[in-house]
Amino acid sequence: MTEETKNINSGFEPKILAFCCQFCAYSAADLAGSMRLQYPPNVRIIRLLCTGKVDPLYLLKAFQEGWDGVFVAGCLEGECHFMQGNLHAKQWVNYVKKLLKEIKIEPERLEMFNMSAAMGTKFADTVREMTERIKKLGPSPLRGTEEPKNQRTEEQTTKK
Ligand code: FES
Repeated sequence: MTEETKNINSGFEPKILAFCCQFCAYSAADLAGSMRLQYPPNVRIIRLLCTGKVDPLYLLKAFQEGWDGVFVAGCLEGECHFMQGNLHAKQWVNYVKKLLKEIKIEPERLEMFNMSAAMGTKFADTVREMTERIKKLGPSPLRGTEEPKNQRTEEQTTKK
């Protein structure tokens, strides 16, 4: 039995953290909900003013806290409300992927996506893609036996 099959058979459900720009991916997630699109419930969203606010430390901290996968979702390239925030985020994601590789964590656990607020279907597809990808990889080597620490509800995240 392959490792992939073992993970699928063991009923492993990945915990995925998403850093979403409020202008695009966060709205796309809302739209996906309004459209009643089905996607796996494995993702928790942190809303950002712009993905340019993503810091490499946030991404590393997420893995340290035991999240199995992390993605950053920003506006389409050329459409960031803060000019180049999404391009900076892409650079940070690529940088952190290299760091993950150095510490023997699969860089595929981290990804950057771009979408517009009208792309509810793309948001649902993104969650599906990341969930399937992480299921194949199995639990993060940094994951303890407990749930990831930073599992706040969406209401807690948006109350500030
Ligand atoms: Fe959406 Fe910058 S405003 S990524």
